Amino acid sequence: MTVSDLMQSMDYGPAPESAAEALAWLADRGGRFGHFIDGSFTDPRDGFEAKNPATGEGLATLTQATAGDVDAAVAAARKAQPKWARLSGHARARHLYALARLIQKHARLIAVLETLDNGKPIRESRDIDVPLAARHFYYHAGLAQLLARELPGHVPHGVCGQIIPWNFPFLMLAWKIAPALAAGNTVVLKPAEQTSLTALLFADLTREAGLPRGVVNILTGDGAVGERIVAHPGIDKIAFTGSTEVGRAIRIATAGSGKALSLELGGKSPYLVFEDADLDGAAEGLVDAIWLNQGQVCCAGSRLIVQEGIAETFHARLKARMTGLRIGDPMDKCIDIGAIINEGQRDRIAAMVAGGAAEGALFQPDCALPERGCWYPPTLITGLSPASRLMQEEIFGPVLVSTTFRTPAEAVQLANDTRYGLAASVWSQSIDVALDVAPKLAAGVVWVNGANMFDAAAGFGGLRESGFGREGGWEGLVEYLRPAGTPKPLKPLVAPANANAPEPADPLDRTAKLYVGGKQVRSDGGYSRAVHGARGRRLGHVSLGNRKDIRNAVEAARKAQPGWAAASAHNRAQVLYYIAENLSARAGEFAGRLHAMTGGQKAAATAEVEASIDRLFTWAAWADKAAGEIKAVPIRGTALAMNVPAGVIGVLCPDEAPLLGLVSVMGPAIAMGNACVLVPSETHPLAATDLYQVLDTSDVPGGVVNIVTGAHPTLADPLAAHMDVDAVWSFSSSDLSATIEHAAAGNLKRTWVNHGRARDWTGPAGEGRAFIRAATEVRTVWIPWGA
Ligand code: NAI
Repeated sequence: MTVSDLMQSMDYGPAPESAAEALAWLADRGGRFGHFIDGSFTDPRDGFEAKNPATGEGLATLTQATAGDVDAAVAAARKAQPKWARLSGHARARHLYALARLIQKHARLIAVLETLDNGKPIRESRDIDVPLAARHFYYHAGLAQLLARELPGHVPHGVCGQIIPWNFPFLMLAWKIAPALAAGNTVVLKPAEQTSLTALLFADLTREAGLPRGVVNILTGDGAVGERIVAHPGIDKIAFTGSTEVGRAIRIATAGSGKALSLELGGKSPYLVFEDADLDGAAEGLVDAIWLNQGQVCCAGSRLIVQEGIAETFHARLKARMTGLRIGDPMDKCIDIGAIINEGQRDRIAAMVAGGAAEGALFQPDCALPERGCWYPPTLITGLSPASRLMQEEIFGPVLVSTTFRTPAEAVQLANDTRYGLAASVWSQSIDVALDVAPKLAAGVVWVNGANMFDAAAGFGGLRESGFGREGGWEGLVEYLRPAGTPKPLKPLVAPANANAPEPADPLDRTAKLYVGGKQVRSDGGYSRAVHGARGRRLGHVSLGNRKDIRNAVEAARKAQPGWAAASAHNRAQVLYYIAENLSARAGEFAGRLHAMTGGQKAAATAEVEASIDRLFTWAAWADKAAGEIKAVPIRGTALAMNVPAGVIGVLCPDEAPLLGLVSVMGPAIAMGNACVLVPSETHPLAATDLYQVLDTSDVPGGVVNIVTGAHPTLADPLAAHMDVDAVWSFSSSDLSATIEHAAAGNLKRTWVNHGRARDWTGPAGEGRAFIRAATEVRTVWIPWGA
């Protein structure tokens, strides 16, 4: 071949990486592994085989964990935890730093082992997975160092159960273990059964780093082991990355248990290309977006949405680029596309494509696939309708589906037409278009003119059925912390009753109605109940809302929310100040009502009204001061961590503080741009129904605040199960945590429930950053630049 021939084809010769060291590491350990518990490896037992997806050859034999192994690992983690948490932040930082250094020292060994076990190109494991994992430990060493000063009043959960998938085995381990340890937790981690080897290598590194015994425990095995970890009573928090289906099962399994939970699940992330985009850049970006790791990436840009006028030329460029992709031996440094994790996954991809490709036009470059191992060619399917199955369902393979749009509004609508909300890319050279569209995309991460950018400082995670919680940044660290102290149990309150009380002397029906869409409306069922004061006096009647009323209220909230979110934060602050002002004008009347309902000292009722006015001021103050953060990420550009509204929030309000409790949840919800459906104190509902007029006269747009009175146990399920509700909070004195967390599994909405524990609404626990976090999603927007 002449130089000129080479210049024509631009072909690379093979550049194979040696597997010798990784194979020697396996051989040194006899090719058989037990679990890593309390600082040492258990004896290997019967189990299953770790296979190389590129060749089908066995690499090692792994042990399936039994219930006894799970007990032993949890016990070791439990024993180690108090001491680990008592270490100074600096001491924990030094341990994390040592791990980061060791990852760098053994980077090549980890990368090669990862590629052998997973089938991803060595270029990726070497240049992406392992450096990012090291960066994660460095960054979290820093968080451990700063934690006590920056987040006073927080303590670790205790023992964390962490379950990770096979697509980024070592990186996901780092994403899980680094923040957990930084915060003072100990862990029991289960790698995916397909890819456990680098986790076992990491276990070795923890010994080399001198990590105290029991701080990190690693159990191998399949989903049954995962289930046991999830169910184990000694676990305080579960962190899971994997399929939406398993995430939902974990949500249900942990409902009401009091275990904290974060879920990072599937996606069908849109990749928007506007006609003024740098088309070569966008095509190259797509190679990263959908062909990184053979498309087996939760945030893969798997749904191309391209502006109609450029669709044809863009598809042509893309096809030309696809033709140049090299598929084959992942250990070859020139390879772009490696092996699919196993036959099951390959067959699943093939079946999905076979089932749906006929709805559009299928393109696969003419590439020879290796004879052994698991492969699937890069695939593009154009001309699909937005509703087609391949446009909606996660394929988790190297398959890109495509449709077109005409206007920016339509692009946003198509992008958001998904049950997922993990990531999105927007490509446009116009700063106006890109920065207008980016925040409108329903996704936890948005890349402007880019794809698959990650960093330890920038939060990663989703909304909708992509799960909840963030990994990375302070927002990821708080997932591993809880407020210090043990709140007292909250006794269920009983509404005062007196069957013999006379009706108030008023011939008109004064049954307090519901408040939906800015109007007072009768309840659907037409039922009501008498409300009595603490001394048995009948104070009036209140409507008993039902499932239909909740539906109407959610509909009104859903309609009002986008407009309210689009209003300026200054506007929202003004409305909150106005509510406070109007409440202040009627303070005496509200205090009288509270006193009549709850009894006690009149001064206490007056104080509750004053505290409510103060709290409204607090949330008016916060409305324009919680926009987010700028992240120092290692790119030419920046990443914004924007606090965007959660959406529609349903709340079961505290029974014991009928006005202050309601104001304390309504304040942050509306200050941050949400619309809400409030179920007021069940025992003392009239403070809420009196508030309608205050809301009416305070410029609160109809539908932003909706109030449905009724029995908390009756309304909890319809509120938590409603697919158009994005978050549910419960501070009810009836402990409805299990009902709510179970019902919330439907669309995997976020929950914030009291587990039957009291909260002091008059003190700092009644306001603050925890409420801001619950009322917002962190949306990370990556903005690279360069003249
Ligand atoms: P999976 O969700 O079943 O497995 C992920 C992890 O969860 C593994 O460690 C597994 O052993 C464990 N697990 C399985 N069942 C469990 C249970 N009931 N309780 C606790 N832990 C359990 O994912 P799988 O089967 O490997 O892949 C199936 C599909 O899931 C893929 O085709 C893909 O669509 C999606 N997926 C998404 C990932 C993501 O990062 N979002 C990662 C892996 C898979």
